[in-house]
Amino acid sequence: AGLHAVARQAGKLYLGTATDNPELTTTAYTAILDNNQMFGQITAANSMKWDATEPSRGVFTFTNGDVIANLAQRNGQLLRGHNCVWHQQLPSWVTSGNFNAATLTSIVQTHCSTLVGHYKGRVWDVVNEPLNDDGSFRQDVFFNTLGQGYIATALRAAKAADPNAKVYINDFNIEGIGAKATAMKNLIRSLKSQGVPIDGVGLQSHFIVGQVPTTLVQNMQEFAALGVEVAITELDVRMTLPETAALLAQQKKDFQTVVAACQAVPQCVGITIWDFTDRFSFVPSTFPGQGAATPWDENLVRKPAFDGIVAGF
Ligand code: G3I
Repeated sequence: AGLHAVARQAGKLYLGTATDNPELTTTAYTAILDNNQMFGQITAANSMKWDATEPSRGVFTFTNGDVIANLAQRNGQLLRGHNCVWHQQLPSWVTSGNFNAATLTSIVQTHCSTLVGHYKGRVWDVVNEPLNDDGSFRQDVFFNTLGQGYIATALRAAKAADPNAKVYINDFNIEGIGAKATAMKNLIRSLKSQGVPIDGVGLQSHFIVGQVPTTLVQNMQEFAALGVEVAITELDVRMTLPETAALLAQQKKDFQTVVAACQAVPQCVGITIWDFTDRFSFVPSTFPGQGAATPWDENLVRKPAFDGIVAGF
């Protein structure tokens, strides 16, 4: 059976994957991607980001994003919007514009409301990676100009553009108990106390073989107790290359552990892997010497990790 079918059987909303436009010409890849029993949800890895969607101020291009949205629609797959506000993949007009607070606020509002308004009825990573690992706010152009208020501004603009959208904050290294997860809980508490819309928290879950946090379940429960849902949004489990049978066996256990943790928490709605094949994983380019992080190998052959996912539900 497909991974999404297994997830549905287990009571989760979806098992999904990231994908990217250049990958769609590989037919051995799309044969798996388009199988809605395998993947019930799609996230665009790049084509809905700021540099792709608003390359010049006020000029919106949805060409590549629409290709992904239409693919998901055609296949009967959910679509996760990724993302409205992030410190990476920003066009230079945003980073170098030296905008004052009022102008940058308006720029954030326009960007978020236009994206969320274009792709209505979706779940959105409205704010991506707002925190540093020590729990402080990331000093990006938004924080430096607007303080933490840009987070509320973005969430409000997104919800106003589509009251049916689910609005999330998404980050990494908040999957286990620790300073950064605590800071995210404090942020969510603070937003809720101000009446700012916040429906969920995305746990990216870019893990390392043998180093999956042991506090996944407790941590997700603590988020859920704040009144938000939880999603695992960018799961992969990388290793130092070359891959060995032992590493692949540990990776299988690691995928199983993560899936079982989501399964143990009713408010964990679903799991997205950050592309499903080692051929297209972001890992080797970002972490030189590491890779093999996904459930399908470079040749689109299933790895033990595939069975780990099934076993976790
Ligand atoms: O579009 C250009 C292309 O024109 C050029 O020829 C090519 C040459 O390098 O680069 C292309 O841009 C690359 C882009 O992916 C599209 O392929 C960028 O260099 C590359 O940096 C970019 O990487 C993406 C990365 O985010 C950027 O930070 C990855 O594909 C994407 O998987 C990754 O995803 C992020 C999530 O959004 C947030 N969480 C972490 C995750 C992994 O870093």
